[in-house]
Amino acid sequence: MNSLWLDFDKKTDKCLPLSSHLETDVCIIGSGIFGLTCAYFLSHLGFRVTVLDKSGIGEKTTGHTTAKITSQHNLFYNYLIHSFGKKFASDYLQVNEKAIESIKNIIDTEKIKCDFEYQNSYVYTTKKSELNAIKKEVSSVEALGFPCEFVTKTGLPFEIEGAICFKNQAQFHPLKYLYGLANSILSHNGEIYANTVVTNIEKNMDETYLVITNQATVKSKFVIVASHYPFINFPGFYFLKMYQSTSYLIAVDTKKTLFNGMYINSSSPTFSYRTVRHNGKELLLIGGGDHKTGQPSCYQDTYGMLEQEAKKFYPNCEVLYRWNTRDCISLDKLPFIGQYSSVMPNVFVGTGFKKWGMTLSNVAANIVTDLICDKDNKYEYLFRPSRLKPIKNRDEMKNVLVQSTNSLVLNKFRPANMNFDEIANDSGSIIEIHNEKVGIYKSPTGKVFAVKPVCTHLGCLLSWNDVDKTWDCPCHGSRFDYKGKNLYDPAFKDLDTYNIE
Ligand code: FES
Repeated sequence: MNSLWLDFDKKTDKCLPLSSHLETDVCIIGSGIFGLTCAYFLSHLGFRVTVLDKSGIGEKTTGHTTAKITSQHNLFYNYLIHSFGKKFASDYLQVNEKAIESIKNIIDTEKIKCDFEYQNSYVYTTKKSELNAIKKEVSSVEALGFPCEFVTKTGLPFEIEGAICFKNQAQFHPLKYLYGLANSILSHNGEIYANTVVTNIEKNMDETYLVITNQATVKSKFVIVASHYPFINFPGFYFLKMYQSTSYLIAVDTKKTLFNGMYINSSSPTFSYRTVRHNGKELLLIGGGDHKTGQPSCYQDTYGMLEQEAKKFYPNCEVLYRWNTRDCISLDKLPFIGQYSSVMPNVFVGTGFKKWGMTLSNVAANIVTDLICDKDNKYEYLFRPSRLKPIKNRDEMKNVLVQSTNSLVLNKFRPANMNFDEIANDSGSIIEIHNEKVGIYKSPTGKVFAVKPVCTHLGCLLSWNDVDKTWDCPCHGSRFDYKGKNLYDPAFKDLDTYNIE
């Protein structure tokens, strides 16, 4: 089953692949919410804008989100105050609140029908042992002058110990919003090309850039890398600064009247809730089951756990949609927004939005637009990609290094622990054939698909994801389907395949 957000009538699909060379002012790589918000602002300021995407509008990360628009990024402000100081935390809160306003302004100006509605947002706990963390967060947010509230009652169908509530946050339909942006961009002479894979960005002698795709090139003064994960490795070195996390969502017809509000719990395992109206029904979205992309996972710990949760409170419910998403997370938990690298002036990036990309993408688009217009932005210092502060998240840094070393070096020499006959139908594994590692998937009818299980990004050994039937990279989170086709960056090349009959 696919994402509920992608199941809507787009009316028109105006985006064709790029087929001839062209010249523009700003070339934007990625047509998710960050890329299209940049394109919206810049095309309205008179820039010639060209957007390139390797699939269709919003089909990847934006099309797989929970679509909460909020400045409440779980329990985050106590962490920010202690790690970066009160002014920093206050500016982070302010700029995210401004983003909510900015999104609402765009929706009103463009009259986008995207089911936007204000909702209260809650981080809750059902455990007495976690109450203290919630109360600390309340004090921290109050110290920043923001009117949050500690509550012990919510609309959730179960009792809680306590929650922190932010009022006037919002939810919407992200794809309807993106199509509204796209229509406005096209009417301001912007161009959007789908199914166009960017393979490199080269600097020209005249200080412009040449964006090279699998079909043609785009010459541009400015470039914005708005792909999910920055795919240019050197310079930038984003692969050393971020990891990816996969989480799962289900949309459920509970056959009951639902509650107001958007909710997430404060600890692991994560459960996130919101409601949505879809095809005349009010559905409940439940998210969670997070794990580092590329780590082994099974149905029971992912969709199974969410379905069990739904059945606990709504025994007659019906699961209508299941999907999952990946989020880039930096080691200090802050996004990277600004100049891609000091040796690539006029190339910009926005990434590492953690799981709060609906709001932070608007923050990023405002900052990058100001940088391109040479205008001061008082929040730009929060997210500078060149920051060299000591990494606070030492545990995660260690995890990333250990995981990368294992996948890049050690696992390649470990013998495979399965042989061909042991692989069940509709499952996959790595086996050894003539001392070579080969990734095998057997379809439900026993048809065999064989790939070289080595990531085309930087060469890590891939692992089999039996939930989605994909090959996933534990290093930086690239994913490939069972036939070897690249699905998610930073890799953009397909896997080599073998013909095994
Ligand atoms: Fe970097 Fe696979 S994503 S090596």
